[in-house]
Amino acid sequence: MDILPSILVKTKEELAEKVRQLEPHFERAHLDIADGIFVPNTTIDTLGELETSLDFRVHLMVSKPENHLVKWADVATSITFHVEATQKHQEVIDMIECEVGIALNPKTEWKTIEPWVNLVDFVHFMTVEPGFYGGMFLPEVVEKIKDFHFYYPDMQIVADGGISPENIGILEEAGVNESVIGSRIDQFHV
Ligand code: DX5
Ligand code: ZN
Repeated sequence: MDILPSILVKTKEELAEKVRQLEPHFERAHLDIADGIFVPNTTIDTLGELETSLDFRVHLMVSKPENHLVKWADVATSITFHVEATQKHQEVIDMIECEVGIALNPKTEWKTIEPWVNLVDFVHFMTVEPGFYGGMFLPEVVEKIKDFHFYYPDMQIVADGGISPENIGILEEAGVNESVIGSRIDQFHV
């Protein structure tokens, strides 16, 4: 199980501080981007002049991701968009030149992503309602992940939100390959 710290920040000062905290311990980070439309929160929408050794896996919690891809193309090693956020899934997948993830909110059935599963590199299951650090882990998503994993045993699975040392084991058993950790990252001995 890979552990990826998340960065969900509103200002470039917060971004710089978070990056400095993580750099000694991690090579990669999950960068949360929120537009205030798809989720009721906003974050930075650019890295600005930041210099860092971290690679960024970008999680777009934005409406119409097709309009946001260009600005992340140069800095992301993967881009994840939400199935609920666009009508232009194929176009989004075609535009992304790095790894592509497709994300589902907790209440979205995994069958919704079926037309695109074989066109993406990983499937990203939200285990909280998206938008903020510190959301409540929703255990019903574990069943959804298990069911998906049964039908797509070779597909890479990311779980995101509310993950702690107490629940990471059940995610691993369910088939998760990468866990995104925000507010509880210090509980993972870093
Ligand atoms: C939630 C974000 C997550 C968040 C995880 O909307 O997509 O990546 O940063 O933070 P925790 O672990 O605090 O739920
Ligand atoms: Zn995220």
